[in-house]
Amino acid sequence: MTDLSGRRALVTGGAQGLGEGMAGALARAGAHVVVADIQDDLGAKVAESLGERHGFVHLDVTDESSWQAAIASATDQLGGLDILVNNAGVEITSLVVDLDPADITKMLNINILGTALGTKHAFLAMRPGGVAGSGGVVINVASVSATIAFPAISIYSATKSAVDRFTRVAAMESGKLGYGIRVNSIYPGLVPTEMGAGLAADVAQIGLFGSPDEAVAAVIDLTPSGRLGTVEDMADAVVFLASDQAKFINGVGLPVDGGMGM
Ligand SMILES: NC(=O)c1ccc[n+]([C@@H]2O[C@H](COP(=O)([O-])OP(=O)(O)OC[C@H]3O[C@@H](n4cnc5c(N)ncnc54)[C@H](O)[C@@H]3O)[C@@H](O)[C@H]2O)c1
Repeated sequence: MTDLSGRRALVTGGAQGLGEGMAGALARAGAHVVVADIQDDLGAKVAESLGERHGFVHLDVTDESSWQAAIASATDQLGGLDILVNNAGVEITSLVVDLDPADITKMLNINILGTALGTKHAFLAMRPGGVAGSGGVVINVASVSATIAFPAISIYSATKSAVDRFTRVAAMESGKLGYGIRVNSIYPGLVPTEMGAGLAADVAQIGLFGSPDEAVAAVIDLTPSGRLGTVEDMADAVVFLASDQAKFINGVGLPVDGGMGM
């Protein structure tokens, strides 16, 4: 099993879904984890379920002062910071002709601005001279939608393509400037979390598929591994990228999609 003993991790959007699974898997691998989310009650419960060496911090990823406070709190609670998982995200389904500017702005803010601010403040904290100061790992959660064209998720897909490109430039800067921080992303396939199940329901409601089950069947049909993804599939990939087993993996987008995006 991958050993992350002594590593200190912050997981955004950790109150439910993939983030909850990632926090749990990092903790089981030995890391001490701070769960960060706008959902305080759920996030605190997840942290409590992980055990006493783990914690919760309120974080709105779109707000820079919230990031400053969260990184300060996490480094204080954990005694440093080695791993940031920028997992918080939102998907609002819409055909292009029905796009709502407020929904577009929300997705841009949470998915792109949130990831950028998180990476900025992780760099400031983890780079030499920062409050944590010993380098580390940033893992951004993009999506298979950054690599394929699935209908009714145009803006969401655009935000995840942005996360993918941002990841690569951030990895390059970190390397060139001697920060000692690897930056990678994963591209999850469809996982039936609240978001994933919601997407299947939405595309059926729009009329693109006869039912949510038909939408899921279409996704599985595009997937060589022949099934949907699981929370565990995504969490395992995050643990791997966070570990020293991935020490020469930098600036990549790792598909964790059963081959759907190839
Ligand atoms: N589920 C899928 O099929 C799938 C596929 C590909 C990529 N992803 C990506 O994986 C990530 C997690 O998705 P999920 O399925 O667990 O979604 P989810 O909706 O179940 O959970 C998202 C979490 O993010 C939190 N969040 C939302 N806005 C926030 C903000 N401003 N600040 C802090 N936290 C905030 C929510 O409170 C929630 O806990 C997202 O980035 C998503 O885009 C999911």
